[in-house]
Amino acid sequence: MMELRDDLRLALDRVAFAKRLGLKPDPWQEDLLSSTSERVLLNCCRQSGKSTMTGVIALHRALYHPGSLILCLAPALRQSQELFTKIAGFYRDQGRPVSAVAERKLSLELENRSRVITLPGSEKTVRGFSGAALLAVDEAARVDDSLYFAVRPMLAVSGGSLMMLSTPYGKRGVFFEEWTNGIGWERYEVPASQCPRIPEVFLEEERHSLPHRVYRQEYECSFEETDDQVFSFEDVAAAISKDVRPLFGSEAGRS
Ligand SMILES: Nc1ncnc2c1ncn2[C@@H]1O[C@H](COP(=O)(O)OP(=O)(O)OP(=O)(O)O)[C@@H](O)[C@H]1O
Ligand SMILES: [Mg+2]
Repeated sequence: MMELRDDLRLALDRVAFAKRLGLKPDPWQEDLLSSTSERVLLNCCRQSGKSTMTGVIALHRALYHPGSLILCLAPALRQSQELFTKIAGFYRDQGRPVSAVAERKLSLELENRSRVITLPGSEKTVRGFSGAALLAVDEAARVDDSLYFAVRPMLAVSGGSLMMLSTPYGKRGVFFEEWTNGIGWERYEVPASQCPRIPEVFLEEERHSLPHRVYRQEYECSFEETDDQVFSFEDVAAAISKDVRPLFGSEAGRS
């Protein structure tokens, strides 16, 4: 009886579930775990725990919502596998609370019909899944736009959740676009100063060793210009004018 009550508590409370996994959630992590939002953007510094928290949420979903399809996506298979490994690791640490039908290197299939699947980072090979309950996009700032556009319809019929987690990478791409202009998202911004596991002395050392731009990107959640960007985002935006008529295209030559 006690066990059942305990299990019900974990099913209803993701913070309690995270603690059961041996984590002590930071304040922003508690907010995220308590949230019911189905559209989440995590703009977080390196090593803040964004993959870990997404792993907790994914496993919780798989265990307590039978029949859930959970997809892990990243720019490359190796990175989505990293997220999957966290989920599978938590699952094993918990003593496999729901039995596995198949436990593979890139996927986990449970007796309650939930599945966790690692997707390769290529647009051509991700197609074919539908009805996802949760799509988690790790290192989202480096995911190709075409890949993102290919996976979004997987949520169409199921009304599933979408989480995009990343450290910024330039003022471009879907993660930047959604962070700055997207609608319906719950946003979390977590600089290194809010991560109790990153010591101030380490940050001081990084501040001295890294170019300012890189430091701001990695530890201060800042969308910086990238190396291969010849003109700054602000310069390009300022140069666009409605007063100049295009030379070619449908607008050309109109007065
Ligand atoms: N609340 C927490 N309690 C204890 N350890 C934590 C907590 N959150 C994260 N960690 C630990 O911090 C480390 C970094 O976590 P994680 O890999 O999730 O970070 P990340 O933001 O995805 O980093 P990266 O940007 O490098 O991918 C891991 O060892 C993880 O176990
Ligand atoms: Mg990570």
